[in-house]
Amino acid sequence: MAGDNFATAAAADTALLREYDLSDDDFQRIRRLVRERLGISLAESKRELVYGRLSRRLRALKLRDFGSYLQHVEADDAGELQHFCNAITTHLTSFFRESHHFDFLAEQLLPALERNNSRSRRMRFWSAGCSTGEEPYSIAMVLLENVRHLRGWDIRILATDIDTNVLSHARCGLYSGERLEKLDSRRLLRWFEPAQDQQHYTVRDELRQLISFKTLNLMDDWPMKGPIDVIFCRNVVIYFDREIQRRIVGRMAVLQRSDDHLILGHSESLLQVSSQYQLVGDTIHRRLAG
Ligand SMILES: C[S@@+](CC[C@H](N)C(=O)[O-])C[C@H]1O[C@@H](n2cnc3c(N)ncnc32)[C@H](O)[C@@H]1O
Repeated sequence: MAGDNFATAAAADTALLREYDLSDDDFQRIRRLVRERLGISLAESKRELVYGRLSRRLRALKLRDFGSYLQHVEADDAGELQHFCNAITTHLTSFFRESHHFDFLAEQLLPALERNNSRSRRMRFWSAGCSTGEEPYSIAMVLLENVRHLRGWDIRILATDIDTNVLSHARCGLYSGERLEKLDSRRLLRWFEPAQDQQHYTVRDELRQLISFKTLNLMDDWPMKGPIDVIFCRNVVIYFDREIQRRIVGRMAVLQRSDDHLILGHSESLLQVSSQYQLVGDTIHRRLAG
C-alpha cells in the first residue's frame, strides 16, 4: 500500500517539522476551554487548524510549549484569553452573503415593519457574530435604500462579535477592492469612497452611523433589551453543539415578540433546537406567539 506509506511518511515529516508538541492532553484542554468560553464544539479533526492558529501565540509570547501557553490563557495573563478567542474563531464573510436574506429584508420585512411599528416609529436589527462588518453594512445599505422616507424614525443596527480584531476592522470600515469585487457597481459608487491608496474603499459615514459595534460573547450575559425586530445570526451557531444552540436561541426568543424574525446561515436549522420559531423562508424564521 504505497499510498499508506506516503501518508505515514508525510505525517512523520510534519511531526518532525513541528516547532511545538501538541499532546493529546493539551488538545483536550483546548477543546474544553473553547467549549466553555466560546460555546464552540471543536472536532478531533481540527487539531492541525488549532495548532496552526495557536502556535503563532506561543511564538509571539516566546513560550516553549502548549502547557505553559494554556496556563497563561487560563489565568488570563495580560488578556491572553481574548487573544486565544480571536485566534480560534473563524471569520469568513462577505457583502450580501446569501443574498436572498437581503431581498427578503427589502421586500417583505421592511414594509411589514413600517406598518406594524408605525406607533413606536422604531426598528431594531442585530447582527450577532458580525465578523469584519460586511453583514451589518449590507443590512445598513438595504435600510437606507428602502426606508429613507421614514423621517423621524429611530432605526438602529447592533453589530456584535467576540473577536476584538474583527470588530476593529468592522468599525474602521475599510475594505480592499478584492473584497468588494462582487458588490453591485451601483452600490459600490453609492456607499463607498476610494481610500487614498486607490486600492481600498471606506464605507460612507451614513452607513456607519446606523450601526453600533460592540464586543459580545454570546456565552456571557447580554446587556441589551428587546424587542429586536430582526436578528441575523448567520454561520455562528453552526460551531456550537445542540445544547448551547438551544440556550442561545432561547435567549434570542426572549428578546423578540411574535412576528419578529431570526435569520440563520445556509447550513443551520432550528430543528430540535427551538419550537418558538416557524420556518418561513430559506433559513428565515418567524417568532411564534408565547
Ligand atoms: C463565520 S463568521 C460569520 C460572519 C457573518 N455572520 C456571516 O455569516 O457572514 C462567525 C463569527 O462568529 C463569531 N463568534 C464565534 N463564536 C462566538 C461567540 N461565542 N460569541 C460571539 N461571536 C462569536 C466569530 O468571531 C466570527 O466573527
